[in-house]
Amino acid sequence: MIKSVLFDAYGTLYDVHSVTKKCNELYHGRGMEISQIWRQKQLDYVWITSLMDKYKDFWSLTKEALYYSLEELGLQYNEKIVEEILNEYLHLSLYPEVMEALNNFRPRELFILSNGNLRMLNELVKNTYLDKHLDGIISVEDYKVYKPKPDAYDLAAKRLGLDKEEILFISSNGWDAAGSKSFGFTVGWLNRFGKPADRLGMTPDFIASDLKELAQITKSI
Ligand code: LAC
Repeated sequence: MIKSVLFDAYGTLYDVHSVTKKCNELYHGRGMEISQIWRQKQLDYVWITSLMDKYKDFWSLTKEALYYSLEELGLQYNEKIVEEILNEYLHLSLYPEVMEALNNFRPRELFILSNGNLRMLNELVKNTYLDKHLDGIISVEDYKVYKPKPDAYDLAAKRLGLDKEEILFISSNGWDAAGSKSFGFTVGWLNRFGKPADRLGMTPDFIASDLKELAQITKSI
């Protein structure tokens, strides 16, 4: 019986590419290029620092990845511009169906489980008024370990005082769906953009293209 639902944040509840608007304002027409390199490099830095056993917090890695993306595209920048773009991570857009869909997962408790720092997650959730729809935020920062390492998921199960089987984990990121399934959660993969399943030997329990559908098909578990 599922007692709590955990949601990944960046890419699942929030559109990380909503930073494109600000990037286009500052670098006309280059916004999506910057955003795509930025997101990929952000995730690369998470994997590489984890493999190096050199934890660096997500806000710092996100900032380093932003510098990289501007430099790779040969774009001039200064600290003011970097801070202005980085600040967008505290104001990302929620995907349109999220606010309404979250309530459809009740009466279970609802939490975020994210690689983000607690500070950046708290500010983003408050800025987007999502705090009223969640029971809490769990950041991997406490354990200095990133998803998809098992300890990151274990942190959440321990924090909630629940067995793995009592937790439904939802992510749009294939690597996160695989990691959480490997750990032992019941997993919903939010395949927003019709991507092929990642070939990581793990099959999500539920697949849907939006959060409302996922709430519907997991209603009675
Ligand atoms: C998160 C993204 C990085 O943990 O998957 O919110």
